[in-house]
Amino acid sequence: MTDLLRVNGGTPLKGEITVRGAKNFVSKAMVAALLGETPSVLRNVPLIRDVDVVADLLRLHAVTVDYDDAAGVLEFDSANVETAHVRDIDAHAGSSRIPILFCGPLLHRLGEAFIPDLGGCHIGDRPIDYHLQILRQFGAVVNKQGMGIHITAPRGLHGTKVELPYPSVGATEQTLLTAVRAQGKTELKNAAIEPEIMDLIAVLQKMGSIISVDTDRVIRIEGVDRLAGYEHTSLPDRIEAASWGSAALSTGGDIYVRGASQPEMMTFLNTFRKVGGAFDIDDDGIRFYHPGGPLNSIVIETDVHPGFMTDWQQPLVVALTQAHGLSIVHETVYENRFGFTDALNGMGAQIQVYRECLGQLQCRFGQRNFYHSAVISGPTTLRAAEIEVPDLRGGFSHLIAALTAEGTSHVSGIELINRGYEHFMRKLAALGADVEMI
Ligand code: EPU
Repeated sequence: MTDLLRVNGGTPLKGEITVRGAKNFVSKAMVAALLGETPSVLRNVPLIRDVDVVADLLRLHAVTVDYDDAAGVLEFDSANVETAHVRDIDAHAGSSRIPILFCGPLLHRLGEAFIPDLGGCHIGDRPIDYHLQILRQFGAVVNKQGMGIHITAPRGLHGTKVELPYPSVGATEQTLLTAVRAQGKTELKNAAIEPEIMDLIAVLQKMGSIISVDTDRVIRIEGVDRLAGYEHTSLPDRIEAASWGSAALSTGGDIYVRGASQPEMMTFLNTFRKVGGAFDIDDDGIRFYHPGGPLNSIVIETDVHPGFMTDWQQPLVVALTQAHGLSIVHETVYENRFGFTDALNGMGAQIQVYRECLGQLQCRFGQRNFYHSAVISGPTTLRAAEIEVPDLRGGFSHLIAALTAEGTSHVSGIELINRGYEHFMRKLAALGADVEMI
């Protein structure tokens, strides 16, 4: 199979698909298994590339990993963790951002960690300064080495007080995964409290940790000497569910997303309704559909939880090209997440990006020359085009645009979408999309 997709657009997506566990939780729960001295079981695991990458990294450290992808069950045994060869770890450079979260668990289990150059989507600089600062506060010594980082803890890891400059998801997870077995107490202020983080805390509690989440984004952790394995079922992927919801809206379709769950998606659902989308919720999932009639323009600001997720923004922008009037999206999480709009404009959308904060929040990017606000003027008729997938969520958006447009588009680099969307081609087929790999 090559990596070029022919898309005959203009047909509403209709049917049923299933979403399984959240990419941005499952990968972290896999790292947590490294801390357990007895076996762990994780359920509802999707077959996506990020899971493969983390499984490979665990295996390099002599963790036994068995994955039954049909059942969605991962089993780990971390009893005999070993130091991996730097050359083998380095082979994973650039493939994911998760390796940075191996630091704390590896320091606890082995006394050292080597972290390759990170990957992930190119949606901003995505520095790791918070991570390294936190690790140093716990007592780690960080040495940049060739393309990676070598980390040791000659005097062990000790609980500390951390205050994040911004409620970073990754830095919150770094603190949790390091603090649970550090000596003494850790206090984390200005923590991220995304549902995926709450699920990680649930896993760590099952393993034997003592963690409390207080008001005002403060998390307190009391270190313990030993952690056991866990059994856990992942929360569903609310980003994937919302992506299919936006695809239904944009193409004028009707998609039942089995597995989607309301509590983690409330902010998205409110916005979806304001734009003019309709949804029905039952115990097994959420049906997203275009009820007919014009869509409404809207003002959105992305934010940390419980705000509107940055990862929901890109697919919804495609639906906003079909709404009447001027919509405004102010991206406050990443400085550079509107690159995908160039291709949409090439297809006939009218999206103008601005350096100013076009919203109520004066965010940290306002004075720094980043094009982080977008004005979308609609409705516009989208035309078929030749498109190259730029990143995971941007790529999904391009695909929705191609499915919305009349005519035949060619989308290359589709493999990137497999990083975060399970059985992506199969789901398109189930929804009646006229697509073919060529
Ligand atoms: N930041 C720093 N320094 C750091 C860490 C973060 O400046 O050391 C900044 C980032 O540059 C960004 C902001 O803080 O501007 C927020 O980044 P965060 O650390 O919260 O993001 P992340 O942990 O790298 C996770 C998800 C992203 C999701 C964000 C926000 C994973 C693997 N990735 O990234 O998901 O957008 O949280 O919710 O969990 C995706 O799934 O497509 C994706 C990009």
